Amino acid sequence: MDKLIIEGGVKLKGEVTVSGAKNSVLPILAATLLTDDACVIKGVPDLRDSNTMLKILRSLGKSVEAEGGVATIAAGKNKGFVADYKLVSTMRASFCVLGPLLGRFKKAKVSLPGGCIIGVRPVDLHLKGIKALGAAISIEGGYVLAKAPRLKGSHMYLGGVYGSSVLATDNVMMAAVLASGRTVIESAACEPEVVDLAEFLNKMGAKIKGHGTPIIEIEGVKHLHGATHTIIPDRIEAGTLMIAALITRGDILIKNAFPAHLGAVIDKLQEAGASIVKAENWLRVTYKKRLKPINITTLPYPGFPTDMQAQMMSLMTVTTGISVITEKIYPDRFMHVAELNRMGAYIQREGPHAIVNGVKSLSGAPVMASDLRASASLVLAGLVAHGDTAISRIYHLERGYENIEEKLEKLGARTRREKE
Ligand code: EPZ
Repeated sequence: MDKLIIEGGVKLKGEVTVSGAKNSVLPILAATLLTDDACVIKGVPDLRDSNTMLKILRSLGKSVEAEGGVATIAAGKNKGFVADYKLVSTMRASFCVLGPLLGRFKKAKVSLPGGCIIGVRPVDLHLKGIKALGAAISIEGGYVLAKAPRLKGSHMYLGGVYGSSVLATDNVMMAAVLASGRTVIESAACEPEVVDLAEFLNKMGAKIKGHGTPIIEIEGVKHLHGATHTIIPDRIEAGTLMIAALITRGDILIKNAFPAHLGAVIDKLQEAGASIVKAENWLRVTYKKRLKPINITTLPYPGFPTDMQAQMMSLMTVTTGISVITEKIYPDRFMHVAELNRMGAYIQREGPHAIVNGVKSLSGAPVMASDLRASASLVLAGLVAHGDTAISRIYHLERGYENIEEKLEKLGARTRREKE
């Protein structure tokens, strides 16, 4: 395993291009299971997670060619409907093959995803939704077995105790597009990645309306055909790069980024004092003056994204004053707190709240990545800390940030890898 060494203290300046969205490409690749026709997906980021999904499609009998960010998925020799434990356990998001397998083959056997470090990650809403469409569900040996001689459209409420669910909305949408009749999903997730999936499904011949709002309506159709689609830019990568500009007191032009997907993040960074110039598909973030502390509460979209919580916390550790971060989506998503404190931050955890007392500076230290966004927060802290920061278990970062070291080095960062 590698560790990433970052030499702190360099102001990042220049321009960088954001890759395709991890959380959009995963369900869209799964949606290709809904047809035997060829689908061409462009803007596919070269990530551990997207490569895992391509492996899962191959294991389900698809022929898969992926080159230079373009994936061509077509019918293969067989048509499997079992997504096995080995692959699903490496990436819980692969649970989103359940909906398309059920939609297409009227049966599916998918390994239950494990929890992960940020929370229990239940799937009760996924199962509630596909049961509402008429599927019979049983749990055997850690697998969900779903059978439905025919799927029938239904009016359902899909909100959970923590609000809407992104992948449950995706799974139900993908099962409902080939169901007979009309499906209405109330308390649907509104994330841009859900909208991107619905747009792709509509290109395949589905009839989906209301995506991007809490009420999605789907008229079932008999058949879906192949389609070509370009994945939206990764708003979380863009947000992470915005914070890299500010934490290093630099100035970065971020291309292939939609400010329209980053409303809450832009609002909070401007409240802190950042200078942000926006256009339709790029933004420029410049450090102008000392930032002010801010309070954040994570919420479903369009609220402040939980996937930006750890990165924002890093910025607040070196912003004088007290910032309070409240995590309402995954109340335990604070594995980065102890690691940031090892670098000289002063953060107190109180249940779903983290109280960040800004300090003058951080000092480089050996730290350990625990999950994707926590590892991003440690990279950000390393960029501003005095001395070297050595981040171990860097494979977490590789799950969701394509060529991040090259991108940072192009902006002036000094990084290198070492064997652990
Ligand atoms: C998606 O996960 C993202 N992953 C996550 O990004 C992101 O943090 C999350 O949405 C919230 O925005 C992908 O899109 C691949 P949820 P998902 O269902 O869909 C609870 C990253 O770093 N819940 O929207 O699995 C759940 O426990 C990853 O890129 C239920 O209670 O998340 C959480 O508290 C991490 N029952 C809340 O809902 C369910 O059946 C939101 O989770 C499902 C979820």
